Amino acid sequence: MIFENSRLARLRQSSNIRDLVRETRLHKSDLIMPLFFKEGKGTQSVPALPGVAKMSREVLLREAEALQKLGIKAVLLFGSASAKDAVGSSSYAADGPFQQTIRAIKKASDIVLITDVCLCAYTTHGHCGIVAHSGAKNRTPFRLDSGRTLAALAKIAVSHAQAGADIVAPSAMADGQVAAIRQALDKAGLDTTAILSYAVKYASSFYGPFRDIYDSSPAQGDRRGYQMDPANGREALAEAALDVAQGADMVMVKPALAYLDIIQAVRAAVYVPVAAYNVSGEYAMVKAAHAQGWLDEKSAAWEILNSIKRAGADLIITYWAKEAAQWI
Ligand code: PBG
Repeated sequence: MIFENSRLARLRQSSNIRDLVRETRLHKSDLIMPLFFKEGKGTQSVPALPGVAKMSREVLLREAEALQKLGIKAVLLFGSASAKDAVGSSSYAADGPFQQTIRAIKKASDIVLITDVCLCAYTTHGHCGIVAHSGAKNRTPFRLDSGRTLAALAKIAVSHAQAGADIVAPSAMADGQVAAIRQALDKAGLDTTAILSYAVKYASSFYGPFRDIYDSSPAQGDRRGYQMDPANGREALAEAALDVAQGADMVMVKPALAYLDIIQAVRAAVYVPVAAYNVSGEYAMVKAAHAQGWLDEKSAAWEILNSIKRAGADLIITYWAKEAAQWI
């Protein structure tokens, strides 16, 4: 490069030129919209997530149709049940209200239905698995009981797949969860159901608003015993490789914004599609700043979504999916 003659701004002079040389382009098919199921009727708003509401079956059916009309190809659906217990037994009933809802959505629409597979919305203690009772005082008492957790997650996944979910997305960060689910699905004859693994999920404060949705904050302790330490990067590659080896069809990095380096590294390390979850706190902080007049939500959201794609994400799970589909 000859410095004297370089004027990189020549290619920034007009929006037409900028369009020509843009390196990253968002498509509607990059975006996945998270949706939240509630029992009963109507909707229930979530104070910490303006614009996001829990939806009953009827409302979800209409929403899936509206999203499809806008060009969104997939939704990530979260389930819940009013009855919680220590082992989350309301999570896998073959004909539970959530499973019936999966069935109804798949009957009415061909939107790709991804379901979150976790216990935290179904357990009284709010942890993502079944808690092991360790006797030792100097150890965290909130370790997950691996065997019982894997068995429960496999049952949830089978119940979702039997109801028609196209893709199940285990998010408990229980070691071995992908293998346990793959095995259970195949045994049940559900070998066409794909797995999107929350392979790289950090113990993050950016999940704050989400935990209000299903009141799923751990009643005691925290999730650092099973989710990743935000200081670690190499470990993310181990998590992703192990999940691919266990049969994950796609892997996810979560959160996205503080982990763009991780998205880039995982993209380079695996050969399956990589999804990034632009989580509740990342959305809520932009909403809050916009409400104060400190920044503009739309341009900030656009910048965030482009940066996640530029880092290497093939798919972006985001609460802006519906709006962004209209901006594209
Ligand atoms: C639960 C789960 C969480 C999120 C998705 N699945 C919360 C957590 O692990 O504490 C967070 C999503 C968001 O913050 O938008 N397993």
